[in-house]
Amino acid sequence: MRLLHYAAAVATASCFATGLAAPAPAEEVSGSSASLVKRAEDKSKNKYFHEPSGDDIMGHYDIRYFKGVVDYDERTDTLTHMIRAYLNFFRENGLDTWIAHGTLLGWWWNGKMLPWDWDVDTQVSGATLHHLGEKYNQTHNHYVSEDGKTKREYLLDVNSWIWERERGDGMNIIDARWIDLRNGLYIDITGLSETHPDANPGVWVCKNYHRYKTTDLYPLRESVYEGVPAKIPYAYDKILTEEYQQKALVLTAYEGHIWDPSAKEWQKTAEQDEKDKHDNEERMRKYKEAQEKEKEEKEKAEEEKSKEEKPEKEKSDKEDK
Ligand SMILES: *[C@@H]1O[C@H](CO)[C@@H](O)[C@H](O)[C@H]1NC(C)=O
Repeated sequence: MRLLHYAAAVATASCFATGLAAPAPAEEVSGSSASLVKRAEDKSKNKYFHEPSGDDIMGHYDIRYFKGVVDYDERTDTLTHMIRAYLNFFRENGLDTWIAHGTLLGWWWNGKMLPWDWDVDTQVSGATLHHLGEKYNQTHNHYVSEDGKTKREYLLDVNSWIWERERGDGMNIIDARWIDLRNGLYIDITGLSETHPDANPGVWVCKNYHRYKTTDLYPLRESVYEGVPAKIPYAYDKILTEEYQQKALVLTAYEGHIWDPSAKEWQKTAEQDEKDKHDNEERMRKYKEAQEKEKEEKEKAEEEKSKEEKPEKEKSDKEDK
């Protein structure tokens, strides 16, 4: 979720996937430059989920299913059905989950997604997370919308690092994803665990240091999100103001959207619409350019290699004769 102004103070403690793919700042690690490079390589080798790039937009696609940045309407359609499918699946299988971060803030306004939000965030308890890993990992889940018109398939992919509940190298703070196989957009699922029950009983943390008290979360409240039953953390107002400050519950203009009180909807401004279109085109152009360049370099390297091998081969051909 992108509430940069509100979130600045908590940015480092956020559970969002944004920035996951970015290399660690050099000052965080010490040692020679060779060992720095090696450590960065080891880190990304350990990373379970991969995105086309680390930016706000492309950082929210799973690289395996990414074909291109989808437009605003397709994103809204994708995310809306995705969260409905997710909530239904969890309810039908008796798995506890609740909505979090920007997804929860959207619920606070009108029980829906914030239309400018990039992703959907949910949380589960550590116990549920382990159960997901053991029983539902890699399952493909079919979904049909209530009107029967939309059919989709979602992959539940559970990170191999879920057994480790500390942050570690920070490459695996997202525990699981619910992925739309058509375009790679996904829900980030993070588990909350009581990591130090002896020293800090009743304190639940995700791998990105978000902390909650048992009484902030439980008993979960029954509500509705995007038209389907959903669970909400008990002290949602406390959680939201801690994460985004009071402003986020009051400001009616944000990210090129205006709150329309009679419709109870966020409406996108025409200006923002233009900007988004332009930005998306620009982003895809750069992405394709980078891919082309990578391809060219690979081809060049292969050419060099075959040039080196050729004289050897000619020599041995001659010797054969
Ligand atoms: C989920 O499945 C993938 C693919 O088989 C595997 O790499 C990963 O370790 C599994 N996750 C867990 C928690 O076992």
